[in-house]
Amino acid sequence: MDNRPIGIFDSGLGGLTAVSELKKIMPNENIIYFGDTGRVPYGTRSKETIQKYTKQDIRFLLSKDVKYIIVACGTISSVISDEIVAGLPVSYTGVPIPAVKAAAKATKSGRIGVIGTPATIRSGAYERALGNINNQFSVHANACPLFVPLVESGFTNPDNEVTILVARQYLAPLIEANIDTLILGCTHYPIIKDIIQSVMGEHVRLIDSGQEAARYAFKFLAKQNMLNDAKVIATSEYYISDTVEHFATNATAILKEPVVGHVEKIDIESY
Ligand code: DGL
Repeated sequence: MDNRPIGIFDSGLGGLTAVSELKKIMPNENIIYFGDTGRVPYGTRSKETIQKYTKQDIRFLLSKDVKYIIVACGTISSVISDEIVAGLPVSYTGVPIPAVKAAAKATKSGRIGVIGTPATIRSGAYERALGNINNQFSVHANACPLFVPLVESGFTNPDNEVTILVARQYLAPLIEANIDTLILGCTHYPIIKDIIQSVMGEHVRLIDSGQEAARYAFKFLAKQNMLNDAKVIATSEYYISDTVEHFATNATAILKEPVVGHVEKIDIESY
């Protein structure tokens, strides 16, 4: 047993989709969440900048003595360097591996779509991971650069006309490709999954990468006998790099429960 907290981070609020699932399946776990709300989005930045930010984000989580890290960000997981991984003193999961495993199970036709940020799609990480499972899969990827800013700006209502319009444009090539499974390769995208589902049609199975990462972490921690066995109520701490003003409202909408726990703005540049 290991009663230290689990560290989860993202460029912003998207990683809360992993927190939401984690709270359901691992209610005993203490959580340290970091959302880099002051520097979001990462997905339109260079690999070098994303890696520099990633090192700081990880140093912050490690300062909280976490036992495991969930990189709840498709972008960071896709460009994380071997050097960063080699320097990690704790185990971690990103989102691509859990998501492609779920997609491989879900698909019937082998025609799989992936959407993500420009950096994620440019990296080819999801395509490679799918190819490693089955090189007969027909994979169709498309970058959706406006989705993250739309989500961070709260354009998430299922009938938001702006987001629907943008989704129709981004998803058209995937409808054309006749996929039966779509990986939401960015953890912000499940927040607008109702829109994505209605544009794609009910027959397309959506894979929520944040949710799958939390499930993967659960299996890993259970197998390693690292789950928390304390008989006290678990705590959640949320750290962000910009104002805490709207955090509780936005996070409540994603977590679908009130934000209970410590919320603090930190200076991530100092890590
Ligand atoms: N949630 C992040 C991801 O999964 C968003 C990246 C960004 O900040 O652009 O990729």
